[in-house]
Amino acid sequence: MPPERVADAASDGDASTPGGGDASTPGGGDASTPGGGAASTLGGGAASTLGGAASSEVGEVLVAAEDLRRRVAELAERISADYASRSLLLVGVLKGAMFFLSDLMRLIDIPVEVDFMAVASYGSATDSSGVVRILKDLDAAIEGRDVLIVEDIVDSGLTLQYLLRNLGSRNPRTLEVCALLTKPERRKVDLPTRYVGFEIPDRFVIGYGLDYAERHRNLPFVAALVRHD
Ligand code: IMP
Ligand code: MG
Repeated sequence: MPPERVADAASDGDASTPGGGDASTPGGGDASTPGGGAASTLGGGAASTLGGAASSEVGEVLVAAEDLRRRVAELAERISADYASRSLLLVGVLKGAMFFLSDLMRLIDIPVEVDFMAVASYGSATDSSGVVRILKDLDAAIEGRDVLIVEDIVDSGLTLQYLLRNLGSRNPRTLEVCALLTKPERRKVDLPTRYVGFEIPDRFVIGYGLDYAERHRNLPFVAALVRHD
């Protein structure tokens, strides 16, 4: 499923207006009413309540909450159709994929199971090296199963390449990838990614599960990181 393309804005992220948030109305973003026009209010509300140094790292919103909802529903519909007569096992890659996985799984309307892996990739805060260490392995064997790896983002592709090799060696019936985001400009290895949500420019992003030094996973949208270094 080809990704939707997110255009790169000319300007860099302006930390003072993450989603046009108004600090005087922090209750504006109400997660219980995700309906019409929620994306900008939700974004503004959440980011402005972070306060101080934290919120100054939150830049331009690249994928609004509303677009995440719509796209995740489309992916779930496609996956439900493609795996209708299979034994689908979602493998969530912790921690970044946690919101994507739970939203996606709720909208899949065929029998589905879930398991998790946690991996750490050696490297700097924003660049993985491809040397991957398993922090938590799957609970159960996947031999003969239809396995769909659910990832937050494919950047260099090195982490995913490792996961595909590792899980592939356990003889699943099928092994595919569903990634919320992809940064094609950064790719170092070519990988089969069957389902992709959004193609984004070469920016380090945070929110909807994605972190910078463990921060900002709780943002309900995907935004560019504003670095202070
Ligand atoms: P890769 O091995 O370079 O493809 O990187 C994969 C992992 O790095 C992802 O699963 C993310 O956890 C992390 N990552 C890559 N790009 C970003 C980003 O822009 N924001 C947050 N995490 C990222
Ligand atoms: Mg990650």
